[in-house]
Amino acid sequence: MILVTGGAGFIGSNFVLDWIAATGEAVVNVDKLTYAGNPANFAALADDPRHVFVRGDIGDAALVGALLREHRPRAVVNLAAESHVDRSIHGPAAFIETNVVGTFTLLDTTRTWWASLPAGEQAAFRFLHVSTDEVYGSLAPDAAGFSETTPYAPNSPYSASKAASDHLVRAYHHTYGVPTLTTNCSNNYGPLQFPEKLIPLMVVNALAGKPLPVYGDGLNVRDWLYVGDHCAAIRAVLAHGTPGATYNIGGNAEMTNIDVVRTVCAALAECRPGPDYAALITYVKDRPGHDRRYAIDPAKIRDELGWSPRETFASGIRRTVRWYVDHAQWVAAVTSGEYRQWVAQHYAA
Ligand code: NAD
Ligand code: TYD
Repeated sequence: MILVTGGAGFIGSNFVLDWIAATGEAVVNVDKLTYAGNPANFAALADDPRHVFVRGDIGDAALVGALLREHRPRAVVNLAAESHVDRSIHGPAAFIETNVVGTFTLLDTTRTWWASLPAGEQAAFRFLHVSTDEVYGSLAPDAAGFSETTPYAPNSPYSASKAASDHLVRAYHHTYGVPTLTTNCSNNYGPLQFPEKLIPLMVVNALAGKPLPVYGDGLNVRDWLYVGDHCAAIRAVLAHGTPGATYNIGGNAEMTNIDVVRTVCAALAECRPGPDYAALITYVKDRPGHDRRYAIDPAKIRDELGWSPRETFASGIRRTVRWYVDHAQWVAAVTSGEYRQWVAQHYAA
């Protein structure tokens, strides 16, 4: 079995569902259930003995140590994090606590336990750390995409905290020999994404007839990847990645934000015809320190591991919009309470 952290969040829950469907291998899923964690995301596994959910913090060394000793996983896949750039600007402390200190505690507790294993199990074990392309900073318009050797230059408290965690993972391989793997992925989208992030926020607001807030001039560029393709990439890296290596994962789908929002509106118009969704687009004050462009050079994972995305942006966005339209109850549940406070505070101006 494997131990997954953050498996109640967006990518984590997609990963747990995908992993059990693709491999049949059991998962212990540890998640603190912050505002971003939602047990409804893995409701389909309610009666499945291959899924064990534990509410807990990756920064709790006693809990992590007990789970490792009890379940003896052959791998840890770390997806637990504070993940939203805008929240990191309003309140960076939680990002340092979970992404830096929490990852350190998870890593160090894993190292102690791993060191006690017989040599064969030590060699077969993997610690896979899921990270982001944002650690590389902002690209000039004509620059080549980020490769695994691009220097780190994080610009937000979020990306700085992820960069710190990546460095710890690297150090634990070089110093202690822990068989680590790190993945740096571009922006994901798909089902089960909390609607504070660009694409689900636009879908949810458009369906409610609310403004679609585009930061600045709307020309910031992101490289979009369908979450199912990310899950397949993580599986490929876990199975065949070289210990100590990092792999960049991207969708070959660079787009400006305004084009993304227009594409969402067009997909909604097909799925739920009626209002002029694009008329809701509203330019708002820019995010402080807003990175202009991210793009991934996916040559290494493609050439070494044979992974490429299956979904195009056009097909992925249709599936995603359809999912949100069909899951009004999920949306209603996650957009109550804390979510309303966040939206009211963040978009107040
Ligand atoms: P998310 O915010 O949707 O989910 C994070 C999950 O982690 C939540 O379920 C939350 O409850 C849990 N969590 C938070 N703090 C925890 C703690 N201390 N202990 C245990 N669980 C905790 O995030 P996501 O978008 O699914 O991102 C998952 C990972 O992928 C993150 O590491 C993120 O940096 C990385 N990533 C995300 C994207 C993206 O576009 N979303 C792209 C590249 C990389
Ligand atoms: P986001 O989904 O927050 O991901 P990240 O900042 O990690 O790339 O934002 C994606 C892009 O969309 C980013 O350039 C900021 C922009 N954006 C908006 O224009 N309006 C919004 O309301 C949000 C949340 C994001």
